Amino acid sequence: MRVIRESSREAVDRAVFEEFCAALRRRPAGVIGLATGGTFSAFFARIAQAVAAGELEMGEVRATHLDEYLGFDHDQRGGMVHELTSLCPPLRQMLDEDRFWPVPASGDAGAVQEHEQRLAEVGGVDIQFLGIGRNGHIGFNEPGTSFDLGFHRVHLAPTTRADARDRFAPDEPPYEAVTAGPKSILKARRIVLSAVGAAKAPAVRAMLEGPIDPQCPASCVRYHADSVVYLDPEAAAELGESAAAMS
Ligand code: PGA
Repeated sequence: MRVIRESSREAVDRAVFEEFCAALRRRPAGVIGLATGGTFSAFFARIAQAVAAGELEMGEVRATHLDEYLGFDHDQRGGMVHELTSLCPPLRQMLDEDRFWPVPASGDAGAVQEHEQRLAEVGGVDIQFLGIGRNGHIGFNEPGTSFDLGFHRVHLAPTTRADARDRFAPDEPPYEAVTAGPKSILKARRIVLSAVGAAKAPAVRAMLEGPIDPQCPASCVRYHADSVVYLDPEAAAELGESAAAMS
């Protein structure tokens, strides 16, 4: 794993966008595993802008993502597919053309198996983008999730629901979701995790300097041979010298 301490949030956004462009060049008909959340909103806006300006061609690439609230329709406010297609119209087009494959929100075992099979048939996910929750989650894998789990249905942790409150207000955030598990996430050929802001500093430290343990789900990324972590100064603020040496 490489840890790269960038000079600003903007520099993290640029690095993540460059990772995306490099993945498209490496495998133009590959599968990109997207992540949602505030960490990635500038990234999606940048993709949309580059496509609109004719600077970026999505070509034959396929996309999928990490997680969805249980039972959510693609156009449901607060949902992950809704977020992705609203922030990035090229993904709406890919959804309409069946080149963006959402996580089965039903959580139904058959649908989940079909989704996993479809990913496997095209060679798996080439690059998986990840954020990290304040509690160390990746996707919706909350602390305590076994690293051996594939796609599964989850009860959301209180911090996760609290962080989702704004996107659902005045309604309550959902209690359940469907997520790619650590085992499915680690199958990606390359993993790009990014974290920005002071609220993430304790989770970043636990991920990089704590034990590799399900209590910090993101720590499983240290098992992946081709993984990179991009941090802004605030997210990296609690790291010791050893992590600085990793950059
Ligand atoms: P955020 O979410 O980007 O909105 O902070 C990240 C996550 O919870 O994985």
